[in-house]
Amino acid sequence: MNNILFVASECAPFIKTGGLADVVGSLPQALKQYEKQEVRVILPLYDEMDEKWKSQLDYLGSFDVELGWRTQEAHIFTLTYDQIIYYFISNDYYFSRKGIYGYYDDGERFVFFSHAVIEALKHIDYKPQILHGHDWQAGITIALANILQPVQDMKTVFTIHNIKYQGVMPLDIYEDFFNLGREHISGMEWDGMLNCLKSALFHADKITTVSPSYAEEIRNPYYSEGLHPMLIDRKADLVGVINGIDTREYNPSSDPALFVNYRSARSKKKENRMKLQKKIGLSFEEDRPLYVIISRLVEQKGLHLIQHILDEFLEQDIQFIVLGTGDAEFEGYFSDLAHRYPDKAAALISFDEQLARQLYASADFFIMPSKFEPCGLSQLIALQYKAVPIVRETGGLKDTISPYNMLTGEGNGFSFANYNAHDLLNVLNYSLEIYNNPSEWQKLYKNVTKSQFSWKDSAHQYVTIYESLSRELVYG
Ligand code: GLC
Repeated sequence: MNNILFVASECAPFIKTGGLADVVGSLPQALKQYEKQEVRVILPLYDEMDEKWKSQLDYLGSFDVELGWRTQEAHIFTLTYDQIIYYFISNDYYFSRKGIYGYYDDGERFVFFSHAVIEALKHIDYKPQILHGHDWQAGITIALANILQPVQDMKTVFTIHNIKYQGVMPLDIYEDFFNLGREHISGMEWDGMLNCLKSALFHADKITTVSPSYAEEIRNPYYSEGLHPMLIDRKADLVGVINGIDTREYNPSSDPALFVNYRSARSKKKENRMKLQKKIGLSFEEDRPLYVIISRLVEQKGLHLIQHILDEFLEQDIQFIVLGTGDAEFEGYFSDLAHRYPDKAAALISFDEQLARQLYASADFFIMPSKFEPCGLSQLIALQYKAVPIVRETGGLKDTISPYNMLTGEGNGFSFANYNAHDLLNVLNYSLEIYNNPSEWQKLYKNVTKSQFSWKDSAHQYVTIYESLSRELVYG
């Protein structure tokens, strides 16, 4: 039996800002199918978490956490949801705040959390053989697990969901936050700074990231955010495992958010679209294809490419809707665009899960031209709702979407390679050409309905990783 403890800063359905929460929420469920693996999850207890969950928490105990010359108290709570046990660590000073990230002392907050996780191992009735940390917020947990060995023979796995965020702080905080000898500084330091992500890359027994292509890309300076030397060094222990999605949760034939449920019938998608247009007050023409973007409105998502060419693409007989929030630059751009094309384009500047699902159900095409994309979950959701993805060939987008080929009739979407606006425009025009060609469109649509990215295969790959680590334990 493998006891595995996930360490992360967010997890659906309790607290979520992005794809990390979906993965930390759904992977333990998928691993549950394997008899020999038990996964539990440990998270910070944020004020922000819904009362619905807070009211279900059971108190387990309190303990002190030493941070350099200071002592902070931590309280630990637990709840069970869908047969998985979750632990929550609370501390008013660090986590009783609005939202979950974005504070000047985020680094310190998650260094505290990491120390508290290690300490909590003495107070919970669960001894993991494998500690599996996710993203920089769990990075120091991995380092401390290796240095302090809180559980005998415990191994560590660290997953990079996005290398752009590393948890970087001035090095002189080392004395303030750690009660460790100076010999441990070099494992945590990068470029003269204390770096939480690098600490994990240095200390973890195995490193994973969320797609095979991203595992290759991050060994290259264009994508590595400065860390390629570390990843080249650890190449033998680095693997890419593509994320799955929860196909029960994202299922158009049962999703209660939709106006009309469907398996793949295009007429039903159209019905959803008519109802959605009514709901948001749009009077778009019925028979034009609908292109959508559903995204955080940030540079990573390739929105500068969109800005360059969308006016030109809107000269075609199409419609466009964007849903999301983010940087003022992009929110402003899309609002203005919608203003200029009132009968063709709409901008829904909000974060609204129900509306997102209604939009996936309504869309013919889903555009995601990311500059980089470790895995990307939205293109997988789009496939589930039969919206044809149009993506840039990077990271997980490259590994999940294959471009439609008229000669062979293969492919489940459209893609382009270079980060170049006109390459995007060309592929958008090509997608429209296929849409207007009924026999080609039918073949493509059929391929889309057959594409599925459930967790099954990927969960199995994690099991293989866990088992290889426990075998090392047994055979040395
Ligand atoms: C991050 C990445 C995204 C990935 C998600 C889950 O949000 O940017 O590509 O799908 O983590 O791993």
